[in-house]
Amino acid sequence: MASQRKLHGTWASRWTFILAATGSAVGLGNIWKFPYITGENGGGAFVLVYLLCIALVGIPIMIAEVLIGRRGRQSPINSMRDLALEAGLPKFWGGIGWMGVVAGFLILSFYSVIAGWALHYVFAMADGSFQNITGASSGARFETLLSNKNELIMWHSLFIIMTIGVVIGGVTKGLGNAVRVLMPLLFVLLIVLLIYAVKQGDFMAGFNFLFSFNADKLTWNGVLIALGHAFFTLSLGMGAIMAYGAYMPSEASLSKTVITVGILDTLIALVAGLAIFPVVFATQGIEPSAGPGLLFVSLPVAFGNMPGGLIFGVVFFVLIAIAAWSSAISLIEPGVAYLVESKRFSRLSANILLGFLAWLLGLGTVLSFNDWAEFKPFFGMTMFDFLDYLTANIMLPLCGLLIAIFVGWFMRREHVRKELHVESQAFFDRWFWVVRYVSPVLVGFVFIMLLFGDQI
Ligand code: PFF
Ligand code: NA
Repeated sequence: MASQRKLHGTWASRWTFILAATGSAVGLGNIWKFPYITGENGGGAFVLVYLLCIALVGIPIMIAEVLIGRRGRQSPINSMRDLALEAGLPKFWGGIGWMGVVAGFLILSFYSVIAGWALHYVFAMADGSFQNITGASSGARFETLLSNKNELIMWHSLFIIMTIGVVIGGVTKGLGNAVRVLMPLLFVLLIVLLIYAVKQGDFMAGFNFLFSFNADKLTWNGVLIALGHAFFTLSLGMGAIMAYGAYMPSEASLSKTVITVGILDTLIALVAGLAIFPVVFATQGIEPSAGPGLLFVSLPVAFGNMPGGLIFGVVFFVLIAIAAWSSAISLIEPGVAYLVESKRFSRLSANILLGFLAWLLGLGTVLSFNDWAEFKPFFGMTMFDFLDYLTANIMLPLCGLLIAIFVGWFMRREHVRKELHVESQAFFDRWFWVVRYVSPVLVGFVFIMLLFGDQI
């Protein structure tokens, strides 16, 4: 194990882990995805289900994942395999690690394309053409971007290069430093937007949309999306957090660390929602259910009409790109760590191989917004919709379910306790009970209801 720690390095301190895990968690999921899926699923009731999923499933499973990583001290694939063997389980359990790494890779392929939109918007904001823009013309500009596949490919390529560039630098130097300054800055900018939304937007309409409970619009598929998003937004179920856990110092309190990350992530998603929806409701030509373009259409309207909006707009999209960047590096790290550990790759060649493959697959997502927009061989979905649905709503919850079962039922209890040795007995007992019973039952229940009923 000592040699594994040397192979990849460890975080400088508990704070670096918190920053890196927050960097992984806070990303497009919070600022781009959370608002638009909330809009598509009718608001309040969806948000409530999402918050319950974070508290009862996401955070408990996040503790379990970090714990596996820290005990295994290797890439998720090898950590899972060794811990399964240690628990006397058949080899198949090691497959959880594989499923996670594959999910992370699939996510990276489309995540990079969306991050590419943010890169485009940095420059689009800077040239001043959003000044005094209306909702309708902002929408039209976004459509023009989507139809231009060469441009999308260019930004997508740049983003993949940025990602592997950091990961080639290695964990402590590359990843640790990148997140330290950027995360606080992002938060400040969101607060600026929130202030604008309070002053100029229809704040009450946005607030009510997010927080008034209206169950009619919620379906079981919506519940599954809320659950899947709890995994996606906390970077769970795909080894990212497990891989980061492997680099965490043994003495640090795992639960405090994880809860801090979970709260920060949730806070940022809610602030993003509160900044975006008041603008949406105050602007003609944008609907809450606008889909993946919601962020990219609504916020430019806010920036285009606020004093200093040119600068704020540029900075904001720079920060989105950075948030996406610090998440993307954690999507590729588990696969890279595995190739380095077990297949004798150098960090450089592992990054180039995986980066290239993710880039290639990402072309399918690029085309989903133009040439292949009507090509829907995947259960009536475009390739982008399909990859998103498959990973967030099926693979991640399934992986999470298996991890909860593994830690709750199969790992030796002393081993679990040992990783959580700083935690009080009362905390441990409660957490363990949730991981054994509550989280798996909830995830299983949602899967079953999805198969049997649609309307709640
Ligand atoms: N948690 C990230 C977000 O909310 O944008 C997305 C993500 C990053 C998912 C890393 C999974 C992952 F391994
Ligand atoms: Na997130």
